[in-house]
Amino acid sequence: MMRMENKVALITGGASGIGLSTANLMAREGAKVVIADFNADGAREAAENISNQGGEAVSIFLDAGNETSIKEAVEFTVQQHGKLTTLFNNVGSTNLKKDLDVVNR
Ligand SMILES: NC(=O)c1ccc[n+]([C@@H]2O[C@H](COP(=O)([O-])OP(=O)(O)OC[C@H]3O[C@@H](n4cnc5c(N)ncnc54)[C@H](O)[C@@H]3O)[C@@H](O)[C@H]2O)c1
Repeated sequence: MMRMENKVALITGGASGIGLSTANLMAREGAKVVIADFNADGAREAAENISNQGGEAVSIFLDAGNETSIKEAVEFTVQQHGKLTTLFNNVGSTNLKKDLDVVNR
């Protein structure tokens, strides 16, 4: 049995790098994968590659710094697959000035 059967995974930053590798692996393990990235073309291509290899994947534009965009990606996932079981919050950003100061925001 595949390890991610019946799972629906939303992967931010899934068009390249760690997110893309994770999307490919999760799809191989039976997950339905939603690839969300602000590189919409790259996300679409990644989803097409998974589909061409017999996996299940779709893509959506995501700006991970925008709350509305995040809500849209979650809603899209649930619309497509009826649920969301697995989140890979892969996109991270660092503002060294802010992030090193935990007292003052
Ligand atoms: N590669 C490493 O050694 C390493 C080490 C520590 C942390 N990280 C962190 O892990 C994450 C992934 O790293 P990676 O090497 O795969 O990076 P990458 O640059 O190869 O891939 C990042 C993906 O995220 C997308 N992306 C970036 N900002 C976005 C945003 N605001 N909204 C939507 N999509 C966005 C990009 O289009 C790209 O497809 C990054 O947050 C990185 O900071 C990476």
